[in-house]
Amino acid sequence: MSFVTSMQEGPILTLTLNRPEALNALNGQVLDDLDAALDAVDLDTVRCLILTGVGDRAFAAGADIAAMANMTPEEAAAFSRRGNEVFRRIETFPLPTVAAVNGYALGGGCELAMACDIRLCSENAVFGQPEVTLGITPGFGGTQRLMRLVGMGKAKELIFSARTVKAAEARSMGLVNAVYPPEELLPAARKLGERIARNAPIAVRACKAAMNEGIDLPMDEAVDAEVREFSGCFETEDQKRGMAGFLNKQKNIEFQNK
Ligand code: COA
Repeated sequence: MSFVTSMQEGPILTLTLNRPEALNALNGQVLDDLDAALDAVDLDTVRCLILTGVGDRAFAAGADIAAMANMTPEEAAAFSRRGNEVFRRIETFPLPTVAAVNGYALGGGCELAMACDIRLCSENAVFGQPEVTLGITPGFGGTQRLMRLVGMGKAKELIFSARTVKAAEARSMGLVNAVYPPEELLPAARKLGERIARNAPIAVRACKAAMNEGIDLPMDEAVDAEVREFSGCFETEDQKRGMAGFLNKQKNIEFQNK
């Protein structure tokens, strides 16, 4: 049995962490199952991934503390490397990803949400990096992505103090885009996914690649990445279809992913 379930509805694929007995805590098997679920994504038909957690309590309550408790430094390095590898794969995945954070997103759970392109959450969501209360640092990207999302000062405050934040504060600092009543979270994530899915898929993918690459580059090199992605779109049928459709006053252009 996998700790990650996959369900495709039209162009939207929802991956659900399914380890409720441990509030979806991330052990090596969960990371492997997440990786395998990404292997199985049909890039021809899926246009957006939604990541969420089973139940109404947790997105993921962190890396698995029981699994980490007796690790040697070498084992810890391998675990951190593996988590970072899978999360980096999500961050650079050639489809937009939406985290639908349905409860606790602590430690590795917060880090998983931050590896997604967009974060939506329920009113009962709680975010934080409480690792220093356990005698460790964040290990799945938290020391790097939180400061890129909310700024260095805020990230240091949260990581050094281990203070958790509720949904409204997470939104006010830009950690999540929007907050919904629990029952409206997945419908809202799907609606966003469907809206994304109506657009030219290769162009959406190219936007993601340019933005992901550019954020770590000086502006002169970053705009080179944009030039490359922009010009690459002109090799696609969808660019011709989209622009001809506009000029012919056509509504609801159907893009072909070509
Ligand atoms: N790793 C392993 N197991 C975890 C876990 C984690 N990160 N988070 C929760 N669990 C397990 C608990 O051990 C418990 O298992 P048990 O029923 O066998 O005792 C089960 O999930 C339910 O958690 P519990 O603590 O009883 O729920 P709660 O409602 O009292 O508290 C939290 C919820 C999220 C506040 C609390 O579980 C918590 O603080 N978790 C750890 C968060 C953390 O530090 N994450 C960073 C890890 S690097």
